[in-house]
Amino acid sequence: MTKAIRITSEEPEAIFQHRPVVATIVTAHAKGRDNALAIGLHTLISHNPPICGIAVMPQKFTYELIAESKEFGVNFMPFEEVKLVCAVGTSTGRKIDKFQKFNIAKEKSVRTGAPILEKAYAAYECKLIDDTGYGSHRWLVGDIVAVHWLKEVYTPENTLDLNKVNPILFLGRNLYLTASKDTISSIGQIIH
Ligand SMILES: Cc1cc2nc3c(=O)[nH]c(=O)nc-3n(C[C@H](O)[C@H](O)[C@H](O)COP(=O)(O)O)c2cc1C
Repeated sequence: MTKAIRITSEEPEAIFQHRPVVATIVTAHAKGRDNALAIGLHTLISHNPPICGIAVMPQKFTYELIAESKEFGVNFMPFEEVKLVCAVGTSTGRKIDKFQKFNIAKEKSVRTGAPILEKAYAAYECKLIDDTGYGSHRWLVGDIVAVHWLKEVYTPENTLDLNKVNPILFLGRNLYLTASKDTISSIGQIIH
């Protein structure tokens, strides 16, 4: 077997070694416009109270809408919607109305004006509490003020049921995959 070549660099440029990531659709409403973009850079920051963060480039139209409304939605889509993620992630709301062009159906939001997508299996409504620039992106932190989810796609233990829904994972370039239930392993505590 040939030995793996390990590269170490102290001058990393854009780095993508952490992929795959769950690809989400972030939404916003302001200036009389709904808009949506794909976001791979996101995380829950706090469980209690629930707080999440998303990294958005400041030149994106969605950033303008979030900066104005101080609200955003994070929508988790099933793998069947991968083409929609790609569509909203490769077009700009400056030129088109993505909701009209891609025929995106909405659910009612309850605490914000940010659109919640009908096809999402889960979604967070967020109120912006911080907006700080780090390099190429703005790190937008939001209090999660409402959560929507489809009860039947979660197990009684509150984990996503991969028999019912498959999340969208983004590998980079134009490559997407999903998580397979065949690879699920239940790992207990390992005591040394
Ligand atoms: C899978 C995927 C993930 C993306 N992740 C991010 C991201 O985390 N942050 C970001 O600013 N742009 C991200 N983008 C790019 C934006 O979605 C894209 O530039 C979009 O067209 C911006 O739309 P807007 O100008 O209407 O806001 C991603 C694109 C794709 C396809």
